[in-house]
Amino acid sequence: MNKVVDNYILLDKLGAGQFAEVFKGKDRLNDMHVAVKVYSLQKFLSTPKLKEMILNEIKALQDLNSTNIIHFYKMLKTTNNIYLVYEYCDSHTLEDYIISKKFLSEKEALQLMKQLSNAFKEILMKNIIHRDIKPSNILLTSTGVLKVGDFGLCKFLDPAQEQLEKLETIINHAIEKTVIVGSPIYMAPELLKGQPINKKVDLYSLGIVFYEMLFGVCPFEDSNVENLIYKIEKGSLNFPLERNGISLKTQNFIREMLRPDPYLRIEWDKFFGFFEETMVFPGKVEYLMTNEENNRNNNNNKNNFLGERAVSFLDELPKMKEIGLFPPNSGIFLFIYDNNFLNHRKK
Ligand SMILES: Nc1ncnc2c1ncn2[C@@H]1O[C@H](COP(=O)(O)OP(=O)(O)O)[C@@H](O)[C@H]1O
Ligand SMILES: [Mg+2]
Repeated sequence: MNKVVDNYILLDKLGAGQFAEVFKGKDRLNDMHVAVKVYSLQKFLSTPKLKEMILNEIKALQDLNSTNIIHFYKMLKTTNNIYLVYEYCDSHTLEDYIISKKFLSEKEALQLMKQLSNAFKEILMKNIIHRDIKPSNILLTSTGVLKVGDFGLCKFLDPAQEQLEKLETIINHAIEKTVIVGSPIYMAPELLKGQPINKKVDLYSLGIVFYEMLFGVCPFEDSNVENLIYKIEKGSLNFPLERNGISLKTQNFIREMLRPDPYLRIEWDKFFGFFEETMVFPGKVEYLMTNEENNRNNNNNKNNFLGERAVSFLDELPKMKEIGLFPPNSGIFLFIYDNNFLNHRKK
């Protein structure tokens, strides 16, 4: 017999985190699937932080509204447990997805990053730092929609105090060191060192996630936090291009995201801009131009907006060979723009 809580029937177990188990559930009122996170009340005695984590998560998710962020429906309580009910993601976590594919093509990774960028526009607008971005907290639906979840460690920022804020650290968490802190390999060095942090910590984690999508491994790994910090700060960032020959543009972008010094790390606006202007999605064929035309535009008509724009855009295409020439070897360039780029151009 499946357990029933309120209107929900609990079905298969989907996963388990440090404090809770997550089940697939079904809403008996409308037959919709949901995800139900179950916390045993016992856990609250041994982990006083848990209450704060749950309240954090509920507060954040109630405030956040984006297709790329998990929706929270409700909280239920019984004598023994607390249940949090969420929108259900019917595919896998990004972690499982990367493992199953070993590594993703640059194009696919960019498409997923674009969705993460959408989620973070909303997260930033609501002055929240997630602080636990990693592939197991990123979910995918069978239609390819990405959703950020697990806001248990998030932090609400008072914008005025943002730079001064001194947040909890691994060291402060010493008692719960192994439980509270998720995976140091995704954490920005300032967070690992217990220095003041700002919203750029999530940018660093996104950089690690981007790298992992492309190569199936993280750039810096060590089970010892001190050594890990050393590797991040002193080690050089290498891209195993023999595994996946990604564009120089993407390499440079990841490098910017993974700058150990948060002040030198890329700004959020630049991060968002990267996905708005240069993303190549299956989309509208905007313009077909011959090689000749391309040269003419480039050499003689510097004022021709489309010409210049198109040429620089072409330079930026991460996988130009795949989609730049149409038909192959024809000398005709095929430009595919996403809607954001078209809107940008119309201005
Ligand atoms: N909305 C959801 N839909 C489907 N699976 C989910 C959902 N939320 C969580 N899961 C599964 O449960 C696991 C743990 O959930 P998470 O929210 O990360 O909790 P924890 O705080 O315990 O890490 C995830 O890695 C995922 O496998
Ligand atoms: Mg988690």
